[in-house]
Amino acid sequence: MHIITVDGPSGVGKGTLSQWLCSKTHFQLLDSGAIYRALAYGSVVEKIAITDVKGLATLAANLPVSFEGTSVLYQGKDVTPQIRNEETAAIASVVAAIPEVRSALLQRQKDFAQAPGLIADGRDMGTVVFPQAAVKLFLTASAEERAKRRVNQLKNQGVNANINQIIRDIEERDERDRTRSASPLIPAEDAIEIDTTSLNIEEVCQIAEKALLKQGILV
Ligand code: DC
Repeated sequence: MHIITVDGPSGVGKGTLSQWLCSKTHFQLLDSGAIYRALAYGSVVEKIAITDVKGLATLAANLPVSFEGTSVLYQGKDVTPQIRNEETAAIASVVAAIPEVRSALLQRQKDFAQAPGLIADGRDMGTVVFPQAAVKLFLTASAEERAKRRVNQLKNQGVNANINQIIRDIEERDERDRTRSASPLIPAEDAIEIDTTSLNIEEVCQIAEKALLKQGILV
């Protein structure tokens, strides 16, 4: 059973790399960000205030989230578009900073580790959830580059976005993810850091592939 972790800030290309790794290895995917987003979505639906730590931790412990391919279901209903918007991302970043919420979701994430292996995408996959992972990848890119990618992604969905607002949102979220006391966004000591600012996706995948070959996970 091999675990590969892919950590880093939002908009850095973790999702694309993780999908590629899944198709290459046929391992399962854990999109841990989707779990925090589902919790954010659930807090709105259940009208739980972001200051209600006990309420949020209780919801986290019983979160009715499930996955079906690339779709995220809440109480069995496909909520993928709702959890992928910027508003839910902002709430997710706030609720994810609560230590009680993180510990309530820990075992749930660990349970994804099943044969033949797992690609775990998030912020603390290599440091907290799967410190035993065979390969730990940590992606970075400048906030400007990540905002550009996000604007292009939104454009493809027919949404016009203000790049300066997106840069501000990204920096605000990064700051919160990096400076929180519970599982801050930092690379594991044994992580391979990849700055993707001036790399295309093929180049990032090549670096990851080399690491997997070195560990004998790919032959
Ligand atoms: O990767 P994402 O954008 O879907 O993550 C949404 C939010 O959840 C983000 O603000 C950080 C948080 N998150 C986290 O704290 N720990 C994780 N392992 C994954 C995501």
